[in-house]
Order: sequence, then structure tokens, then C-alpha cells
Amino acid sequence: VDGIDLFLDEVAGAEHRDIQFVPKAERYDLTWGHPDPTLLPVDELRVAADAVLSHRGWQALSYGTSEGAGRLRHALAERLGRGTTADELVVTHGSSGALDLVLGLVSEPGDVVLVEQPTYFLALRIIADRRLRIVGLPPGAHLAPAVAEAATAHGGRTFLYVIPTHANPTGRTLGLDERRALVATAAEHDVTIVEDEVYAELGTEVLPSLADLDPERVVRLGSFSKTIAPGLRLGYVRTTAERAAALAGCGVLDSGGGINPFVAGIVADLMETGAYGRIVDRLGATYRERMAVLLGTIDDAHLPAGRPTAGFFAWIRAAQGDLVAAAADVGLAVAPASSFCVDRIAPTHARVSCSLLGPADLAEASARLASVLAGRGRTCGV
Ligand SMILES: Cc1ncc(COP(=O)(O)O)c(C=O)c1O
Repeated sequence: VDGIDLFLDEVAGAEHRDIQFVPKAERYDLTWGHPDPTLLPVDELRVAADAVLSHRGWQALSYGTSEGAGRLRHALAERLGRGTTADELVVTHGSSGALDLVLGLVSEPGDVVLVEQPTYFLALRIIADRRLRIVGLPPGAHLAPAVAEAATAHGGRTFLYVIPTHANPTGRTLGLDERRALVATAAEHDVTIVEDEVYAELGTEVLPSLADLDPERVVRLGSFSKTIAPGLRLGYVRTTAERAAALAGCGVLDSGGGINPFVAGIVADLMETGAYGRIVDRLGATYRERMAVLLGTIDDAHLPAGRPTAGFFAWIRAAQGDLVAAAADVGLAVAPASSFCVDRIAPTHARVSCSLLGPADLAEASARLASVLAGRGRTCGV
């Protein structure tokens, strides 16, 4: 059974809605960026939850410290390496909660946040909720010069939100030279970078994060949503010890005693026993295989952001026409480009995800997508 079938059964039979999923009319739904429910590590989590309750009892269930569970921050600092220390980490409510928390501390309403186009559409919502001005960089532009130009034009306090590795929605990973150029430009124009690295651990290549290159200027957001399970609602901020202390000192963390201490204890256990590493390796390999199947029939000419090797997403371009409509004609649901952009973008582009369908369905979806891109569909390339 494919993951999407579990979702479809669940929402069809549900008396009350418990999961974030809405069925599409098309047979092959490539729109969702959810981890496959058949791959969620239920057994490993059961063992870890049992160990936490058996060994720690009431301590696991009390209010925690505002910066988040110490065991998790120490285990995570070790895993992140490159000199990361536990006092540079704050446990958050996923990467989404991390972005909101950071923006709440370091920005003021009216500040500018530069974003790539396309970018993660829900980050745009989180930024807008904080009453910040979103400025989209030109689609496909080289990041460093585009940031320099936009920061100069704005003049005031400026942030950059960026997804350096296996990005949502393009799948693009910035190379080392691009990373170095970006942090150098940010330093030159006094731009604070917020990097969102929820997919970084799913690949095979380990490049330094932007925060590794400039820990003062770059705040890194991480998450266990894609590497363990999204229902944990657990992630983290990595920043300077000083900023981490300021984040931890905010009212919501102080009042709540940190984020999800029980869940954080479970994740700490998974890290300490080595189970976390095994889960990430397993999930990463599975999604890499799926990506290869999904893109197997797709020509490079239709991958304007390059050919992703890991993560969930790829960015597809048709020669002309409306790709969402043409794909729907052959039973494929793909995510429209306009969702991921602030400015107008041609409907020739769309995001596809490899995370929810199994290999057989992905192979069929790939063949149908190739036929649409070759102009054998109704609207595109006619
Ligand atoms: C780039 C990016 N950031 C953040 C999130 C949400 O992460 P979390 O579940 O940790 O809040 C997603 C999920 O799709 C994402 O793609």
C-alpha cells in the first residue's frame, strides 16, 4: 500500500479530521510535501517513548527548561558538529515555529525579508503574519548579486530567507562557492540570513551550512519533521549563544517551559542509541530512489533549477501553456508555480513531489509527465 492510499483511506473514513490532507481528483497526486506515512518510524518511536518513560518517569512529563531539553541539545550539537555547542541551540515547534520565533526576536514590523522565487509558500505566510515586507528576488537569479542589488535598493534593515539544500520547491542545492558568495554578500550589505534546512540530512553530500560559514550572521533552522515524523512538531534554531539565550528568554518559552519536553526526550533517546542515524539513512535512501524514478523520464531541459538527487521536490518547466491544466488532463496533480512566488510567474512551471507515491506509481506518473512535457498533452507545447 502506498502512503497516499493510507491518507485517502484515513480521510474517507474519518469522523473527525485528524491529518492535514485533502484528496485531489487526479489519480496521481504529486502536490504534497508530506513524508510517506508508510515510512514513519512507528516501532522505533514506541521503543524510545517506552525507554524515556521507564528511565525518566515524571521528569519526562514535567515543564522543561525554556531553551529545550538539554539531552537533545547536547546530542544534536554533536550530530551537527563543526564546533556547534548546546548553548547555541534552542528547541522549537518545528522549523515553522523556529522561523516565527526568530522573526519575533530579531525583526520589527516593516523590515524587509528577501526571498528567492520560487520559495516555500508557507514561509511567506509566517513572514507576512509578522507584518514584515516580503521582497521577491528575480526568479532564477544568482543569489549573491540579487541580494546585493535588493539590499542596496531597500537600504533599511534586511533579512534573507533561504533554503540552501534540496530546496522547496525547486530541489536546488547551493554549491560551496555559492554559499561562500552569499554569506560574503550578506556581510557586505549587513543582511541577516535565516536558512531553513529541513531537507539537508536526506542527501548524501554534506556541505557546510551557511551558519557554519558565518555563525554570527546566519541563523539556521532545522526540523525533525522530514527526518523522523512531522507529528512530533519538533525542530530547532542554531544561532550564537547570546541570541539563543535571548530566544529562550522570550515569554512563550518561559511560560511554557520550553517546547515539547516529552517529545524532545524521545528524540534525544533516538540520537543517543543511534536509532536516529539509522532512520535518517533509511528515509534519505528511499526518497533518493523515488526522486530518481520520478525524474527518470524527464529531460534536463525541463528542469530549470537542475536535477535534484535528494529531498522531496523538483521544479518542472514546460515549453509553453499551463502545466497544471495539462498535467490534470493526464491524471496528474502538480503544484502551481504561482503558489511559491510573490510576483507573477508563468504557468509553464510547477512543483512535483516524490514523497507520497510508491515507485510503481511514480514511474507511471513520470511517464505521463514526460508525455505532457513532450507536447502530447492538451495545453502544453501544442
Ligand atoms: C522549506 C520548509 N520549511 C519548513 C517546513 C515545515 O517544517 P516543520 O514541520 O518543521 O514546521 C517545510 C515543510 O514542508 C518546508 O518544506
